[in-house]
Amino acid sequence: MEVPKEMKAWRAHAYGAEGNPADTIGKMTLDTIPVPEPKKGQVLVKVELAAVNPIDWKLFSGGLHGICPVSFPYVPGFDLSGTVAKLGEGVTDLAVGDEVVVDLGLCETCCTDTPCGPAGAFAEYALALAETVAKRDGLSSKDVVGLPLAGLTSYQAIFTGAARDFSGAELGKLEAGQKLLVLGGAAATGAIAIQLAKSAGAYVATTASPNKTPEGISKIDYMKQLGADEVINYKEADWAEALAGKDYDLIYDCVGTPEDWPKAAKVLKKGGNFVTIANFGEAKSTEDHSFKVFLIKSNSDDLKKLIALVKAGKLKVPVDSIVPFSDVQAVLSKSMGWASAGKLVIQVA
Ligand SMILES: NC(=O)c1ccc[n+]([C@@H]2O[C@H](COP(=O)([O-])OP(=O)(O)OC[C@H]3O[C@@H](n4cnc5c(N)ncnc54)[C@H](OP(=O)(O)O)[C@@H]3O)[C@@H](O)[C@H]2O)c1
Repeated sequence: MEVPKEMKAWRAHAYGAEGNPADTIGKMTLDTIPVPEPKKGQVLVKVELAAVNPIDWKLFSGGLHGICPVSFPYVPGFDLSGTVAKLGEGVTDLAVGDEVVVDLGLCETCCTDTPCGPAGAFAEYALALAETVAKRDGLSSKDVVGLPLAGLTSYQAIFTGAARDFSGAELGKLEAGQKLLVLGGAAATGAIAIQLAKSAGAYVATTASPNKTPEGISKIDYMKQLGADEVINYKEADWAEALAGKDYDLIYDCVGTPEDWPKAAKVLKKGGNFVTIANFGEAKSTEDHSFKVFLIKSNSDDLKKLIALVKAGKLKVPVDSIVPFSDVQAVLSKSMGWASAGKLVIQVA
C-alpha cells in the first residue's frame, strides 16, 4: 500500500485553562504533519472511521496527568477502524491490507515512555501496538468502530478479561441467572453491558431517562429493546429504593455519581460487587460489599471475543451519529454534553 509522507491530523496543544476541556477543544488545529513510522511491535493503520469517547476530552482537563500524562501537541482519539498500511518489525499476525479495529489504549499510549502515541485516532494514519489490534472479520467499519473502548471496558467490568481493579482484584464474574444493575444503560458502555449480560443469561436492571434517541424513541424504550428486564427512570425514581432488598450480584456504574456507592448496600447481596468506571473518588469497600474501580486494558484477545458476538448478531454497538472529519471539535463538545445515545463517530477517510 502506498503511504504518503504527510497526513492531516487534529492536534491538541495544551491542557485547558483552569482545567476546562472546552478551552483545549476550541484551540485544536487541523495540521499537516509527517505520517508516523511503525516501530517494533507496532502497525500503521490508515484510518477510515474514528469514534469519540469521554476520555478524549477528560484528558484535556489535566486532572488525569498523574495516571496518563500526555505530551503536547498530540493527536487525540483512541477508537478507530481502518486498514493496516505498514508493519513494524516483528509483527507476524497482521498483514498490510487487513481490515482492522482497535482501541489504541490509554496507558498503552499516554504513559511516560510508551512507544507510540499519545493516542492518535483523529488523523488520516495512526500507530497502534499490534497486540491491541483485531481484524474485523468481514464486519463493516461502522458496525465496529465504537466497539473497542466501550466494549472492552464493559466486557472487563462484567467478566474481568484482561483487566483488574486498581488493587489487582478480579472485576465482575457474571454468570447465567445472576442479577446485574447497570447504572447509565443508555451510555455507550451501559448499552453494550446490557447486551453482554443478557447474552450470558443474567437478569438485568438499568437506569435511563425518557430523553430521546436519534431514532426518536425514549431511552427507556431503547433499554427494553436491548433486552433490559427492568428500567428505572432516574429522573423520577431512586434506583436504590426501587430495587431495595432485591439481592443483586453486581452493580456496574457507568455514571460515576459519588452518592451511588453508599446506596449500593440496599440493593447488593452480601458479597456483591460495585464495579465503577467513572467514580475515581475515595470510596472504599465494606465488609459486605466490594467497591472496584479500574481502567480498561486494551488487548486484542478480549476484542476478538466481542467481534465474534457482533458477527453472531448478539451485540450491536449503538451509533448516535457520524460526522465529517472537519467536525472533530463540534463532536467533542457534543460528547461533553453527556446526551448522546451511542457512539459519536468521525468519518476520516
Ligand atoms: N475506567 C475506564 O476504563 C473507562 C472506560 C470507558 C468509559 N469510562 C467512563 O465511563 C463513563 C461513560 O462513558 P460512555 O462512553 O459510555 O458515555 P456516553 O455514551 O457519552 O454517555 C452518555 C449517556 O449517559 C446517560 N446519562 C447521563 N447521566 C446519567 C445518569 N445520571 N443516569 C443514567 N444515565 C445517564 C445519558 O442519557 P440521558 O440523556 O438519559 O442523560 C447519555 O445517553 C464516562 O465517564 C467515561 O469517561 C471509563
